[in-house]
Amino acid sequence: MSKRILVAVAWPYVNDEPHLGHIAGMNIPADIFARFHRIIGNKVAMVSGSDMHGTPTALKASDEGVEPSEIAFRYHKIWKNSLEKMNFSYDLYTHTHTENHKEIVTKIFLKLKEKNLLYEHTQKMPYSTTEKRFLPDRFVEGTCPHCSYEKARGDQCDKCGRTLDPIELINIKSIRDHSTPEFRDTTHQFFKLSKFNKTLEEWISSKKSWRNNVKNQSLGMLKEGLIDRAITRDIDWGIPVPIENGYENKSIYVWFEAVIGYLSATVEWAKNQGDEKLWEEFWLNENAETYYFQGKDNIPFHAIIWPAILLGYEDHNIPTDVVANEYLNLGGLDFSKSKGHAIWLTDYLSRYDPDPLRYYLASIMPETSDSEFTWAGYLSANNNELVATLGNLVHRILTISHKNFDSINAPDKLSDNDNVILDHCNQTLDKVFKSLENRKFRQGLQQAMNLAQIGNRYIDQEKPWSTVKTNKQKASNSLWIGINIISTLRTVFYPFLPNTSDLIHNMLNFKNDTLSDGWKRKELPEKIIINPPKTLFKKLDENIIKEENDRLMK
Ligand code: MF3
Ligand code: ZN
Repeated sequence: MSKRILVAVAWPYVNDEPHLGHIAGMNIPADIFARFHRIIGNKVAMVSGSDMHGTPTALKASDEGVEPSEIAFRYHKIWKNSLEKMNFSYDLYTHTHTENHKEIVTKIFLKLKEKNLLYEHTQKMPYSTTEKRFLPDRFVEGTCPHCSYEKARGDQCDKCGRTLDPIELINIKSIRDHSTPEFRDTTHQFFKLSKFNKTLEEWISSKKSWRNNVKNQSLGMLKEGLIDRAITRDIDWGIPVPIENGYENKSIYVWFEAVIGYLSATVEWAKNQGDEKLWEEFWLNENAETYYFQGKDNIPFHAIIWPAILLGYEDHNIPTDVVANEYLNLGGLDFSKSKGHAIWLTDYLSRYDPDPLRYYLASIMPETSDSEFTWAGYLSANNNELVATLGNLVHRILTISHKNFDSINAPDKLSDNDNVILDHCNQTLDKVFKSLENRKFRQGLQQAMNLAQIGNRYIDQEKPWSTVKTNKQKASNSLWIGINIISTLRTVFYPFLPNTSDLIHNMLNFKNDTLSDGWKRKELPEKIIINPPKTLFKKLDENIIKEENDRLMK
């Protein structure tokens, strides 16, 4: 029976363009997973959007002397566009500055308030005497009290991942003018996070298939004990606090409302589909599965804070899995734009195709530890794996067939070796299925590529280019087996390389598209008339390594 799968992808801050670190950490795995579930027949809602109200956006706006909304919409467009160009198959990519989102956030806030899960409390927050304003979250930096990292921010330490309050920072400074803020009293709404400590601990401990990084980090925080956190801030860029008095100049804390985006986006998508209740199948039906994709710095928000909000709100599904990746590094440095080293996605797309990047990033995906992007690695993945293994196999089979036969017809009988190969096709479908189902994306990709290697060895042995001159029937039989292999490759590569799969599909003259054929070894038509073969992947010149590295140094 078909399942409902929510693929929830972390919402990027829109203070800059997407870089390859973002893509490798969240969009690539999420898209592989969503496409996989669609092709095996499940109903998928893949949603995300831009996190418009983040303090990084407010900071950039004040640097440029413009309104935060200008920055937010500027980068939202760029993000949306680049994600489309990469063929990420979002059912909806929206943003958090919509009326719909505001309504749902307000509703959840009021429900938690009504249930006494929110309370007012006065706390000390950093106040800049030079700017005469409070400095929330990323407006301040200081030393982490837990791990001594010197550049921890007001809401989180990037080193140890713990969530923080600014008052915990040692040697706190304004990141705008490096002045030392003083702590002044301010009143906020607090969420009773502590109340959920035990429930969350039991829930996460029971998760057998979660990745270690996610379990360890969140169980660590739960063992230390959760403290109640302020969910309003002294900042005017954000969603208004739905409380009559005293909150006019405050907004809802961006992390509290951004995670609600997963729900509000599903509601918006349902409305767009003309079926207002469609979202309920993913959120209220307890058999639905919900998966969250993100970088490791997002773990506490998705494994602790968001489930706590959902438990407080009641009746809505809490995450089936929180799939967090480690970081993708670049030349040994943190792959982060803020450190001045990045490969921008728009820049990449101005020179290269999406599928080789999808392939390389999936092959080095930082699933269990940080991994390293290098242009030499990219070139080698493209030239040695995509061109020389997958592209070459497809090219050989299709050109020999097209050149020598009007059609390739199903053989009368198969040799033992042929059956072994068809068996490999079936096994590969099973293996890749299991890997992707279990969010083991690198392993799935290797298993898919392994079938291409088997295919090349088979064609090397069969030599259809030579037998075609002496025994045309034998050549045709080998090519028919070859076509079974590439037809299967089309399926198993579909989650990773959707463009490539559809190109293969079209060259084989199949009807509709790869997705509509489902996850099985296709019953081939009696006669296959091959369309003129096209090149799947372009071989790249070695010089690009130097060119691209020089660009990075600029
Ligand atoms: N904007 C956050 C970041 O870039 C991620 C937000 S994910 C959400 O780290 F779920 F909260 F939206
Ligand atoms: Zn720390």
